[in-house]
Amino acid sequence: MSRRGPSTAQQFYGRWARLYDLLAVATPGLSRLRSRVVDELRLSPGDTVVEMGCGTGANFPHLRRRVGPEGRVIGVDFTRGMLEQARDRIDREGWENVHIVQADAATFSLREDVDAVLATFVIGMLDDPYSTVSRWLDGIRPGGGLALLDAGQSSRAYSWPVNQAFRGLVLASTPGGTSGFEKPPWYVLDERIAESRRALSDRTVAVRDSQHALGVVRITGGRVAE
Ligand SMILES: C[S@@+](CC[C@H](N)C(=O)[O-])C[C@H]1O[C@@H](n2cnc3c(N)ncnc32)[C@H](O)[C@@H]1O
Repeated sequence: MSRRGPSTAQQFYGRWARLYDLLAVATPGLSRLRSRVVDELRLSPGDTVVEMGCGTGANFPHLRRRVGPEGRVIGVDFTRGMLEQARDRIDREGWENVHIVQADAATFSLREDVDAVLATFVIGMLDDPYSTVSRWLDGIRPGGGLALLDAGQSSRAYSWPVNQAFRGLVLASTPGGTSGFEKPPWYVLDERIAESRRALSDRTVAVRDSQHALGVVRITGGRVAE
């Protein structure tokens, strides 16, 4: 999560890209969640899907499986080090229909209407999630889908110990630490996630929301009205 602007976040993720990739792929249960959020997009073979803040490309295998060799996966990220890991993954797998673009996902304009947009663990890094998610929705064809996966504080009955652990994790993974924040970073994170969900509720139909991993992980998907 960033409060100080892109350069701090880019430096942070650039420095930790290799370790991030290990965690992104090997954390127990994460692959299942990635598959679950991709299900929300209801992709078909031949579709074009854009992943915003794709990082090292840990979602690419799930996306590529759904769109097949005739579809397209486009990953957008502003951190060169993360994209280098993504490029290695693409080359290793020999995927010719998976492309990466170095750009700011908050201002990135989709040149054509795409079938779906995905963002996982990215919303907390956006200064204005409502506007950014709305912008992404503008680039999706009628009937297409948008899905988000994020981690935030749990609201379940036993949430206190879970949230204490979660706050520690947020501190460790916040570029620049807590300085520069007027509010605790986990609070900012929850606010940003709520804003992104508000954009989905306002702008899409058939919104589906689910909680996982003791209520810490939230998956939300919606479809652009036909
Ligand atoms: C926590 S990582 C998540 C990576 C990947 N989505 C995943 O699930 O493993 C956040 C990623 O979002 C990227 N990111 C954050 N804000 C961005 C922005 N405004 N434009 C492009 N990339 C952004 C960072 O560079 C980083 O790679």
